[in-house]
Amino acid sequence: MAQSGTAEKIQKLKEERNATILAHNYQSGDVQDIADYIGDSLELSRIAEKIEADIVVFCGVRFMAETASILSPGKKVLLPDMGAGCPMADRITAGGLRKLKAEHPDAGVVGYVNTTADVKAETDISCTSSNAINVVNSMERKKIIFVPDRYLADYVSKNSRKTIIPWNGFCPTHVRISQEDIRRQKELHPDAKVMVHPECIPGVVGIADEVLSTGGMCRYARESDTREFIVGTEIGILHRLRKENPGKKFYPASEQAICPDMKKITPEKILWSLKNMEYEVKVPEEIRIRAKKSVDQMLKVV
Ligand code: 13P
Ligand code: SF4
Repeated sequence: MAQSGTAEKIQKLKEERNATILAHNYQSGDVQDIADYIGDSLELSRIAEKIEADIVVFCGVRFMAETASILSPGKKVLLPDMGAGCPMADRITAGGLRKLKAEHPDAGVVGYVNTTADVKAETDISCTSSNAINVVNSMERKKIIFVPDRYLADYVSKNSRKTIIPWNGFCPTHVRISQEDIRRQKELHPDAKVMVHPECIPGVVGIADEVLSTGGMCRYARESDTREFIVGTEIGILHRLRKENPGKKFYPASEQAICPDMKKITPEKILWSLKNMEYEVKVPEEIRIRAKKSVDQMLKVV
């Protein structure tokens, strides 16, 4: 719960500074309630590029703020806690990817947006969980290096005719969701549809009714006639799902699916960030230009 008056102070400062607050679907409820826009990685990148604001306060993790800055170098992008990283993104370096590319010179290179800017700069095209299959299918090459999530890579390889060369990365939050968790919830709620994120392990993805990005889950919950859902992703999304669908029921596949980095952002830190204009996320221009090419390629596909 935000301290009393924090939301009002944020609102006032936001207007003075011509700032917009973007929040990822995994942010805690009090942060989501302060935000101007809530979305998945792809939706937030697009919004960051389109909006007319001088300042973007990004409530999410560093690679997301970096992507906003890559697309909108004219805006000041603030991350309220510089420690909000992504352990999956940290599992690959630009040097590591260059080495893999040298081993497979005939392969195209697709990078999940959950990567640092210098890794993106080494890729031909970026993707998010919502467009990974389309992006891979859009490539001319038969062989595709796909980094860094080995589970998203597995999901893509099962849904495309490409030969996928994965990196050994994974999300420590999503791997906590087990098949047993899904089965237990299914027994308790037999009429519920199971929707899971493609970062989940293959055994979980294999027994789901729908495999969706976080934005895809919000759309599916809204448009489906189903009234109950088992949600296999980070539990922050439940706030939005419940708020937008008051007549429907949402059960977390696992209460353990919490991303500690996403939870580093709080309303108090947003206020501090707007007051002090910290921490600015900026990418060196030479890397930004190369990384932007990769993100722009993705935006052409979807
Ligand atoms: P989405 O693109 O589905 O929002 O996923 C981002 C993410 O970090 C998943 O762990
Ligand atoms: Fe990274 Fe996983 Fe957190 Fe998403 S949920 S930001 S992939 S650690």
